[in-house]
Amino acid sequence: MERIGIEESVETKTLTKKLNIEGKLITAPMAEVTDSPFRIISKKFGAAMTFTQMVSAEGILKNNFNSLRFLTFAREERPVAVQILGNDPGIFRETVKEIVKFKPAMIDLNAGCPVTKVTSKKMGSALMSERSLFGEIVKAMSDSAGDIPISVKLRLGPNKNVINVIENAKVAVDNGAGVVSIHARTQDEEYEIEPHWEWIAKAKKEIDAQIVGNGSIFNYKDAKRMISETGCDFVMVGRGALGNPFLFSRFNKLMDSGVETEEPSIAIVKETLLEHLKLIFREYGAILGLDKAKKNIIWYFKRFDGIDFLIVNLIPLKEENDIFSLVEIHAEKLFDGFYKKSDKTLIDKKFKERIVFWLLN
Ligand SMILES: Cc1cc2nc3c(=O)[nH]c(=O)nc-3n(C[C@H](O)[C@H](O)[C@H](O)COP(=O)(O)O)c2cc1C
Repeated sequence: MERIGIEESVETKTLTKKLNIEGKLITAPMAEVTDSPFRIISKKFGAAMTFTQMVSAEGILKNNFNSLRFLTFAREERPVAVQILGNDPGIFRETVKEIVKFKPAMIDLNAGCPVTKVTSKKMGSALMSERSLFGEIVKAMSDSAGDIPISVKLRLGPNKNVINVIENAKVAVDNGAGVVSIHARTQDEEYEIEPHWEWIAKAKKEIDAQIVGNGSIFNYKDAKRMISETGCDFVMVGRGALGNPFLFSRFNKLMDSGVETEEPSIAIVKETLLEHLKLIFREYGAILGLDKAKKNIIWYFKRFDGIDFLIVNLIPLKEENDIFSLVEIHAEKLFDGFYKKSDKTLIDKKFKERIVFWLLN
């Protein structure tokens, strides 16, 4: 285990590649969410880099249709990082050679996913407890990546009694990773648990890599606070970016000119949502686009009154046209102050707990 860390460090330290992007905010990889439409909108509003969702390393090599679909991105979406999932260094070595042809800005190893279906196969966050294998995978990726930076996305460790993020980050760097992303929760912590940003700060002090901080950035001021509290090089935004690309533009404005901005108006939210919906239907077509459109409509409107009425009317819709009409009608009612003030605590709680939420069940 230690051998990998020490032996390779001499050889690879000079080879580690750093991320070269303009800006500080990165969108997190999110399964079923970080697709082409999401990337285009996030970039338009100022995200410095976006991600694919996690893609099976083996699936790419086997030309699995979905894996290739998740992997690919358009030129206009660049810079995009690709995240891969797996447990076999040999497969990673070959897969990364394929991925390099797409010229992503970075190739990331998923070593943070806590879902049992993944960890039971020694993938995702299970790799953090298999340090020798973890080091071999990072080394295989680095060997095949050429000029493209390699990163790892880690959690803090299995639980609060076994925090091993610093040890794992060191192994990753010794094996060629130039970037380390830290989702500051343990493997057994749910999303509503407050993240422990102090570990991001500790990694920044102790690890010779660019550090990406991640965990509960829900508005643009949170991002600024994470940078000042931890010193991290980049901030990764997950749930906070859902239906809220404005987080990126507001953060950039704050950093560039110190200006604090108001929440975007109903008109701006509607206009951005319509643009996002058109991209969704262009990408997925009228049938597959429906559910993705519905999720996004709820996310965009969740901070306004009348969200429960919106959901009740939205769920049964089956036609693309009806989706667009409902957005217009709902926005019109919001302009007119039609809905009575609603308590947003419940929807906020469900959003944070369940991520993809439907208030009806
Ligand atoms: C819907 C959803 C899907 C996710 N899928 C992935 C994934 O594919 N790969 C990954 O490393 N993390 C995934 N995550 C975790 C996020 O990348 C991020 O680490 C987590 O949401 C914490 O950030 P946040 O508190 O800003 O949401 C996912 C999270 C959500 C909400």
